[in-house]
Amino acid sequence: MSKLFEFTGENDFCPGGPIYTNPKEPSLFLSLGLPVDVYFPSRKRSRISAPFVFAERFEQKKQVSIEVLPDECLFEIFRRLPGGEERSACACVSKRWLSLLSSICRDELCSQNKSAVKSTEVKSKVEDEEIEGDGCLSRSLEGGKATDIRLAAIAVGTANCGGLGKLFIRGSNSSRGVTKVGLRAIACGCPSLKVLSLWNLPSVGDEGLSEIANGCHMLEKLDLSQCPAITDKGLLAIAKNCTNLTDLVLESCSNIGNEGLQAVGQYCTNLKSISIKNCPGVGDQGIAALVSSASNVLTKLKLQSLNITDVSLAVVGYYGKAVTDLVLTSLPNVSERGFWVMGNGQGLHKLKSLTVTSCLGVTDTGLEAVGKGCPNLKQFCLHKCAFLSDSGLVSFTKAAETLESLQLEECHRITQFGFFGSLLNCGANLKAISLVNCFGIRDLKLDLPELSTCNSLRSLSIRNCPGFGDNTLVLLGNLCAQLRNVELSGLQEVTDAGILSVLENCEAGLVKVNLSGCVNLSDKVVSVMTEQHGWTLEMLNLDGCRRITDASLVAIAENCFLLYDLDVSKCATTDSGIAAMARSKQLFLQVLSVSGCSLISDKSLPALVKLGQTLLGLNLQHCNAISSSTVDILVERLWRCDILS
Ligand SMILES: *[C@@H]1O[C@H](CO)[C@@H](O)[C@H](O)[C@H]1NC(C)=O
Ligand SMILES: *[C@@H]1O[C@H](CO)[C@@H](O)[C@H](O)[C@H]1NC(C)=O
Ligand SMILES: *[C@@H]1O[C@H](CO)[C@@H](O)[C@H](O)[C@H]1NC(C)=O
Ligand SMILES: *[C@@H]1O[C@H](CO)[C@@H](O)[C@H](O)[C@H]1NC(C)=O
Ligand SMILES: *[C@@H]1O[C@H](CO)[C@@H](O)[C@H](O)[C@H]1NC(C)=O
Ligand SMILES: *[C@@H]1O[C@H](CO)[C@@H](O)[C@H](O)[C@H]1NC(C)=O
Ligand SMILES: *[C@@H]1O[C@H](CO)[C@@H](O)[C@H](O)[C@H]1NC(C)=O
Ligand SMILES: *[C@@H]1O[C@H](CO)[C@@H](O)[C@H](O)[C@H]1NC(C)=O
Repeated sequence: MSKLFEFTGENDFCPGGPIYTNPKEPSLFLSLGLPVDVYFPSRKRSRISAPFVFAERFEQKKQVSIEVLPDECLFEIFRRLPGGEERSACACVSKRWLSLLSSICRDELCSQNKSAVKSTEVKSKVEDEEIEGDGCLSRSLEGGKATDIRLAAIAVGTANCGGLGKLFIRGSNSSRGVTKVGLRAIACGCPSLKVLSLWNLPSVGDEGLSEIANGCHMLEKLDLSQCPAITDKGLLAIAKNCTNLTDLVLESCSNIGNEGLQAVGQYCTNLKSISIKNCPGVGDQGIAALVSSASNVLTKLKLQSLNITDVSLAVVGYYGKAVTDLVLTSLPNVSERGFWVMGNGQGLHKLKSLTVTSCLGVTDTGLEAVGKGCPNLKQFCLHKCAFLSDSGLVSFTKAAETLESLQLEECHRITQFGFFGSLLNCGANLKAISLVNCFGIRDLKLDLPELSTCNSLRSLSIRNCPGFGDNTLVLLGNLCAQLRNVELSGLQEVTDAGILSVLENCEAGLVKVNLSGCVNLSDKVVSVMTEQHGWTLEMLNLDGCRRITDASLVAIAENCFLLYDLDVSKCATTDSGIAAMARSKQLFLQVLSVSGCSLISDKSLPALVKLGQTLLGLNLQHCNAISSSTVDILVERLWRCDILS
């Protein structure tokens, strides 16, 4: 960057004189560091006769300078510059120039070429942090880098090459962080801004947001998180001027309340997605106004940790006509009646996906009404519901005939009666069921009705439900013959007999099997599995199955043709198992984890190199018998493979 500008020619402003008088200014500007958003031209139309070299030579220059002009004059000069490249170049001169340039709004420019210039030369200069989409630029500033100066530089620099479309600011420098000044520059220079995300910016308040509202009328997505100084007033400004807003995300903004949301509801008639979390000022009034006015367009709604009551859910149930995805989390003031009214509101006919977490109002009666009120529900996730019991779950699945996926997490009152009741009563569409951390399950021997089946089920996932044992698996094996993906993890009570029953009844051919943490399984399981499903099995996880030995690896080497992902971490496998796999002619593993296998040693080096010809990932963590020099050789030889050690 020794020759940034070479100013010579007829239109000289100050012949022979330096632009700089203040040696501090350029270094201040350079302290921005790279990547900087200002375009540095390499070949420039000449303007000033004295060639000058950045940073080193100014000190020797005389005092006469364009710098003596007051801001008003420089402003007039700058707005007459012919194009964005020239403005960018001038912005490189000093902080003062940058700041003046960034205060010139689009409609104050005098040149004919107000529209964005899109030359290839400019594009090739653009910094690597940028992501290009729809011809628009995207910028992200984080932590200490988020300052007003950088925002000004972004505003001036991007105007020249396509225009800023997306801006993300994540936190800011506590001593000289982002304020309304930086946002004003953005508002002036970036009228095409569509996406704005402000996280953790205590120094940005209503005035800053109003600047954006004044300049960025095309804003479509606004995401405010931890901006305590922004109040309803700021949101009102946005609502009035950015009527094309489609997505609104508010999180932990303690001073935004109902009035702001009412304004958004009133002016922004195209709101498609709303997510509001942990805003103590937001109550029923705000949610009701927002949801009722966006009734025909709102498709995604997420309400989390809010002080709303049954009233809000009633409004959602009645006005949520277009809602396809609904997430309700931690709503302590919503009761059973709220869910009941929501289900009976007759509005949620398009709802496809519903997630409810930590809502005490989800009771048997409440959930049954929801099942009846959502005739197109496909995915249902229920987390941490203390009051829901078996009969409520079964009535829900009976009502929700279109359900494809059911996920229950920490629902401790659900027992195996509720689990099998759901499997037997749900419609013919249920493809996936998942139970995580449900402690109410006991391993009883049940008598199921004869000839009952659940042939639609493809994926079964039982994770960390301690009561789940062999009896339950035997019943499952008899019911579900079309399983493809099975995850049974952390089930200490399960033994070979339970798993074998599932394996032997499975007609479809298993594709993904995850048995991690099922400590009591033996090689017998792997031997039967690979013999029966070796032509379909693609992924097998035996992490922590410590009774699994080399015999299993031999069976895998002989029978698996499609397996690409194998995890035998903490198993009792040794060098000879690895050697057996390396000898196999049909095994083409891409991912192998032997982490924590302390019996695998340096002797496996040749076998690992052989296996490594197809590997993309190899996990050797906590393999105490493999030395670092062996790892070094592997890293060198298997350069395509990502090795963890
Ligand atoms: C405007 O831009 C065009 C090409 O983008 C260029 O040919 C023309 O000279 C510019 N006019 C001025 C006044 O800079
Ligand atoms: C914030 O800015 C000051 C002054 O320029 C600088 O010294 C400090 O390192 C910055 N803080 C962070 C977290 O980057
Ligand atoms: C909306 O923008 C216009 C000009 O862009 C401005 O005059 C007006 O004050 C803005 N309104 C609000 C409420 O910010
Ligand atoms: C809002 O969207 C409409 C339709 O896409 C478009 O015609 C209009 O120009 C947009 N308004 C603004 C201020 O961007
Ligand atoms: C919830 O709303 C009530 C009544 O509007 C209010 O008294 C209470 O402080 C609010 N609680 C929280 C956590 O915001
Ligand atoms: C929500 O519940 C809390 C505690 O149960 C109560 O103090 C508050 O008034 C309730 N808020 C509303 C809006 O009903
Ligand atoms: C297998 O299950 C374990 C334990 O639940 C989980 O951490 C892991 O991600 C699963 N692996 C795959 C490939 O699904
Ligand atoms: C399974 O293993 C656990 C822990 O090793 C043990 O406590 C339990 O008795 C075993 N269960 C069976 C049925 O073998």
